[in-house]
Amino acid sequence: MVSTATQIGSFTFDNCLMNAAGVYCMTKEELLKIEQSQAGSFVTKTGTLTARQGNPEPRYADTNLGSINSMGLPNHGFHYYLDFLSELAKHKDSKSHFLSVVGMSPAETKTILKTIMASDYDGLVELNLSCPNVPGKPQIAYDFDTTDQLLESIFSDYTKPLGIKLPPYFDIVHFDQAAAIFNKYPLTFVNCVNSIGNGLVIDDEQVIIKPKNGFGGIGGDYIKPTALANVHAFYQRLKPSIQIIGTGGVKTGRDAFEHILCGASMVQIGTALHQEGPAIFERVTTELKTIMIQKGYQRLEDFRGQLKYMA
Ligand code: SIN
Repeated sequence: MVSTATQIGSFTFDNCLMNAAGVYCMTKEELLKIEQSQAGSFVTKTGTLTARQGNPEPRYADTNLGSINSMGLPNHGFHYYLDFLSELAKHKDSKSHFLSVVGMSPAETKTILKTIMASDYDGLVELNLSCPNVPGKPQIAYDFDTTDQLLESIFSDYTKPLGIKLPPYFDIVHFDQAAAIFNKYPLTFVNCVNSIGNGLVIDDEQVIIKPKNGFGGIGGDYIKPTALANVHAFYQRLKPSIQIIGTGGVKTGRDAFEHILCGASMVQIGTALHQEGPAIFERVTTELKTIMIQKGYQRLEDFRGQLKYMA
């Protein structure tokens, strides 16, 4: 029997595929559609301390090779998602989930995590250190000193399972420096990668989204090589207790296979889920299992991280 089951920390999942934060996760209704699909889990839209409208529309557009977005973290406030997950967890057949959060300042992030710490929510938290779309707020994880200080402060009193959503890095020295920081902390996972920030897509003579004069995060086919590089670079550098979630450019079983080959324990789908809807999980799972059968692999552990180099 071929299985795509996986584990993150002490949490088990029947399937390694799930949504990426930002897609099909703004409302309870959307999240329930992912829950009822073949996805092994879901992650919520990144919840902030208070609800946000986000950037002006149009703020998302599909392109031939993927998507561009400048949503600006519209969400119902982290309490909405925390309460929903706590409610879902009471059902005995419920899957395990990921609660995505970030504050608009380190103090807000601490306040959010303090509330989660005091709540009965015992699931995974994904701290979003990589949103490129809030005007005036840089992507936190590109500032290594700030990231180090934030993680030090968080782990001084937060003891529930926590991972971080990272922006893509593009330099070997940055992989080394970032990994050295992450290895200091009891992170459960890192998620590589968020969109490639601040791209520009033009139609005729005009930008195709309104915020920031058209600048936005790029997802889809464009970003798979960068995502795979980040997954593998961190798989090589992080201590084994920090697992990798692979995100970026996944729309087929082959894409998911490559993320796992690079070291991912779980694989998230963003742009392609937006374009195809939750039925994508059944298709990609079937395609992934077909590849595993062809290659004689029964479990993800049979090939995870086994990327071959040239002699
Ligand atoms: C957004 O809300 O702007 C997208 C979320 C993200 O990139 O983290």
